[in-house]
This record gives sequence, structure tokens and C-alpha cells, in this order.
Amino acid sequence: MFKQKEYWASRTGLILAMAGNAVGLGNFLRFPAQAVHNGGGAFIIPYLVSFLVMGLPLLYVEWAIGRHGGRFGHHQTTGMFYIIGGSRIWWYIGILGVFNCLAVATYYLYIESWTLAYAFYSVSGVFGEKTLEEISVFFSSYLGTVDNSIISISSAGVFFFIVTLILNVWILSRGLNKGIEVASKIGMPLLILFAVFLAVRAFTLDEGEYGAVNDAIKGLNFLWEPQFDSLTNPKIWLAAAGQVFFTLSLGMGSIHCYASYLKENHDIALNASAAGWLNEAVEVILGGSIIIPIAVAYLGVDWIQQHVGFEMGFRTMPFLFQQWGPVRGAIAGLLWFGLLFFAGITSSLAMGQPVLAFLQDAFKIQRKPSALIFGGIVLFLATPCVLFYSLGSFDEFDYWVGTFSLVLLALTESILFAWVFGMKKGWVEITRGADIVLPDIFCYILKYVTPVFLIMVFTASLIKPEGGNWASALTILRDSGSWTFAPDSVIGNLLHYGIQDTRWFINGVPTKLFITDATRLLLTIVFLIIGMSTVKIALNNDNNTVKE
Ligand code: ALA
Repeated sequence: MFKQKEYWASRTGLILAMAGNAVGLGNFLRFPAQAVHNGGGAFIIPYLVSFLVMGLPLLYVEWAIGRHGGRFGHHQTTGMFYIIGGSRIWWYIGILGVFNCLAVATYYLYIESWTLAYAFYSVSGVFGEKTLEEISVFFSSYLGTVDNSIISISSAGVFFFIVTLILNVWILSRGLNKGIEVASKIGMPLLILFAVFLAVRAFTLDEGEYGAVNDAIKGLNFLWEPQFDSLTNPKIWLAAAGQVFFTLSLGMGSIHCYASYLKENHDIALNASAAGWLNEAVEVILGGSIIIPIAVAYLGVDWIQQHVGFEMGFRTMPFLFQQWGPVRGAIAGLLWFGLLFFAGITSSLAMGQPVLAFLQDAFKIQRKPSALIFGGIVLFLATPCVLFYSLGSFDEFDYWVGTFSLVLLALTESILFAWVFGMKKGWVEITRGADIVLPDIFCYILKYVTPVFLIMVFTASLIKPEGGNWASALTILRDSGSWTFAPDSVIGNLLHYGIQDTRWFINGVPTKLFITDATRLLLTIVFLIIGMSTVKIALNNDNNTVKE
């Protein structure tokens, strides 16, 4: 058995790092967009149910797999899955946990760099008197997409991306305690403080104040008025489950890695619950109380429904903050983009750490060079993501990794833990050293409900029908035996449904389809390289690892 060397220095550090892993850009940018797209109040019930039957149980599983793997010196999922599953195949299924972290980190760090840039722009007064339209154009020019050329690039975009990457590499190179733990202890309290400040300001924004045309509370009503008919709409369930995945960082491989630095009898039940609930509080209370209420106050519910999206935080918020006057606007912008930056960096560090652990396992490279290599790989992979942003390379990363692969990993690990390892042993593992009594019901949820729920989510995302209308798709299937896949279903996406012109080049110029396929090829190559390195680790460990 290997001797494990690094542990969390304190419980506060652990919880803040784990919560920091979860609390991210997803809480403040993705959640409001998902909630609005899915009808506001219609979204909340499926979201909360998904959290209880899938999110929370999977947190226990990932913490337990991580702590168990850590005992055997494994800090990333390939070795952990092998230890839990007991047969060679699990080494290779565990590749997903390294691949997901690396690939999500690539495009996530790019968004994180926008927040750093925008914090800087907010205080430097760039947004000044700009109109809503001008601020949106400013964002396009920051991304380099304004002139519709094939390559999207701006010097500012590259500069802030490199700075963000260097910062991440530097913190990772300092190690668990001096790097990640310190960053979480600084970043998390600050982001919560900034978010509370902005949420209170949003709550109290009345019609007529600083030019608002509605009470901001109207936005909260839109979000919180439950619509029970949504419970029968699979489209909303799929979106809610996807959000729970992303926000809790489930199926990524990062929670396993952080949990592997726990001691054998350290509590999981209370720590995992605290980190999970803290993330939910930040998401639904704070994440739901900034963008939507402020935007509804100025632009109304209809406008939001038509324009909401991940980019709204950059295209719209700087304009709205300016309505509060130049100084207040600059402060609000600094708080908003500052909190996004802290949320982002505490999550991207958690994606980097498993990759470092993998490099150390596969090639016996020390922490500092591993951090540098991680930075180099991210820079290489981010290049197409950034350059071909407008041709969809970024979206391919997000779809295949941030949506599909996370669910795939979670599905396999829930079966691994509950059915291969066995729920009896699994429950002992989860409850060993527990500082709270977890209700036994979770044992049954983990064995039956979570895997079934995940199979449903996974299957639904594979075969989602055109238009997302399941009732009519099932009727057509019954009457005519045919099924039309939605372009954004996994199968539809894979087969390029909805794309009429399937040429890779037109007049020698690459098309969006070419960039899409090239990005898929790149992701496949990355996956295979991690796979080949895993063979090496597996062979080395055959001699060293004592199986339980
Ligand atoms: N959980 C992280 C987020 O919400 C990835 O952004």
C-alpha cells in the first residue's frame, strides 16, 4: 500500500475547497439562464428533486470513492475505480474522470478569463456611457467575433486568458494546503460577501429607482412561482438534471480527487452534505437573486425570456450597472465580475488537481512540473476553442464533455458503487467516521433510484425527439414507427441532424461542420492519449497496489 502524503489541513479548508469546486460560473451564469429558458417557476421543482435523488446521493458516492482510493494512494479516478471495481476494465472507465476534468478546464478557464478582464474593465471606466447595444458589441470584439471572420481572436482576450492560466498553474504548483486551500479560504468568503451585497441591492431595487421600470421582486416571483405541470415535461427534467450535474461538479472527477486527501476515518456524511447544500444555497438564493431580478427591473420578463443566455452576464449586466451611476456602476461591476472570477478559479483549480495527480501517477512527474505541463496542455487545447469560438469549437467541448461525458461517468460510477462494490460495503464506506446520522433511505435511493434516474436522463439525452415534445414523438412512434432525433440529442448531434450542407470546405475555406468534426477528433485523440497513459499506470500498479 502506498503511503499517502498530503491531507487537508483543516475542516474549514476542506469544506471551502469542496464548496469552491461546486460553486462556480454555473451558479451565477448557467443557472439563471437554464431557469429562464425552462419557464422560471417550472424549473425549480424538477431541479430540487434532481438534487435530492441524484445530486446529493452522488456526492456521497464520489466522496466515498475518493476517500477509499486515497487510502491506496490514488488521487484520480482510474486507480480509484479499479480499487472499488476490482477488475482491469475499471482502470479504463476511470479515464473519463481525468478526461472530463482536463477538457472542461480548457473551456472553463477561457470563460474565467473573461470575468477577470471584465472586473478590470468595470473599474477602468470602459463601459461609461455605452448603450446596451454598444456593450454587447464590445463583448463581441473582446471575443474577436465581431467581423464574422473564421478566426476569433483579440489581443485582450489572449492576454487575460494567459494571465488566468498562469494564476491557476501557480496556485496548483503550490500544492494542496498552500495553494488550493489558501485560495479557497480567500475566494469563497469574498465571493459570498460580494454576492450577498449584490443580491440585497437587487432585492431592494424598486420601480422608478435609477430608471428601473419594474420592481426587481417581479423577477424573483417569475423564478419562484412553482408550476406543477412542469413535472410531466421531460425537457425540463433533462435541463434540471443537467444543471445539477454541472453545478455540483458531478461526474467530473474533481470531487473524487479532493476527497482522496481525507484521512481514512474522516467524516464524509456531514462534509459532503455541507458542501452540497452550501452550493445549492449559493445557486438558488444568491445566483437566482442577481441577474434575473436586476434584468427584469430594467428590461422586463419578456425581454429576458428572449435574450437570456450564458453571455448575458457580460453583454447586459455592465449596461445595467451603469444605470446606478458611474461610481456605483464601477463598484457593482467589480463585485459581479470579481465574484465570478473567484467562483471560477476555485472550480478550475479542482479540475486541474486530478490532472496533476494523473501526470504524477503516469509519468512520476513532481507537482511543479506537472502544473506546468497541465498549463501547457490547456493552452494547446484551448487554442481551437478560442480561435474557432464562433465556428462552434467551444460549444463542442461544452456539449461532449460538459453535458454528455459527465452523465456517462456518473452513471457508470453509480452502478460501480451500488452494484459492483455493493451497497452493503458502500454504505459502510459512506458512514464510516460520519459526524451525522445519514437516513438509511439514502442507501435505497443510491441502490435503486439514482441509477434508474441516471439511466433515464442518459437515455433521454441520447434519443431526445425533435422539438423536445415527447408526447407527440411517442404518438408518432406508435402510429408510424418512426422517431426523429433532435439535433441536440446525442444521436442527432453525432449524425449532424439539422445540418443541410455537409461540406467541410467551401471555396477552400473550412466550414462550421469541419471545425465541429475536427474538434471531435481532437477530443477523441486526447481521450486515447489518456487511455494509453492509463495502460502504463495499470501495469505499474499491478505490482505495487494491494487490492482490498
Ligand atoms: N460546478 C462548477 C460550476 O458550477 C463547474 O461552474
